[in-house]
Amino acid sequence: MSTRGAAMRKQQKPLVIAIDGPAASGKSTLAEKLAQRLGFFYFDTGVMYRAATLAAMKDLGGVEDEKAVTRLTAAVQIDVRPPSVEDGRVMDVLLNGEDVTWEIRTPEVDRNVSPVSAYEGVRTILTNRQRDIGMRGNMVMVGRDIGTVVFPDARYKIYLEASPEERARRRLKEMQLRGETHSFEEVLQSIIRRDGIDSTRQHAPLKPAVDAVIIDTDGKSIEEVLEETLAIVQP
Ligand code: DC
Repeated sequence: MSTRGAAMRKQQKPLVIAIDGPAASGKSTLAEKLAQRLGFFYFDTGVMYRAATLAAMKDLGGVEDEKAVTRLTAAVQIDVRPPSVEDGRVMDVLLNGEDVTWEIRTPEVDRNVSPVSAYEGVRTILTNRQRDIGMRGNMVMVGRDIGTVVFPDARYKIYLEASPEERARRRLKEMQLRGETHSFEEVLQSIIRRDGIDSTRQHAPLKPAVDAVIIDTDGKSIEEVLEETLAIVQP
């Protein structure tokens, strides 16, 4: 390859498809299927905030001390890699080498993760790590601020919406599949509470990028949403 060709290739931006939206809007399911269809990597950035939250709950006994949580986040190692166990997981999440794939999905982590993800220092640290991973390219990245902050130049940006009730029904179903029992009301209130914190926080609040395509998923099957997305995304 010529030197000029190599330089041009180096300058090329990584191909990132950003999928953002509120909790349980179907982002992960869509992104996973999209990545499969395109042969891309699937990266759910929420697991990083969840792993940092779990680390704080374990090491600090809580998440209230912003400085301590930020220091701890800088010190811990959070890794994601393809699934090593066939138990319904779509990726392994490792916290300092320990498999915490399911531990980061408990209601306790759900309760504590929104405050942690509102801490500016935590966001800076995890945003930088997410950019490093995204730079590998051919990546479907899922989160709240991928299209607005992490990769504002992403080639495609999708923002999923669904009513809180529809999202609570979906989340409850996921939990039931894992053998957990919670009431619909409990799950709905948790979702409404997290929406409030996520969309009103000062740093990188949840909102669609101005150039995102908004898809309302209420009453739609995952296949319908996938087809709608594939019509937009043509790598
Ligand atoms: O998608 P999730 O429910 O696993 O996300 C967990 C939390 O992390 C949620 O409160 C929002 C936050 N988050 C974020 O602020 N930015 C991201 N890119 C991903 C998740």
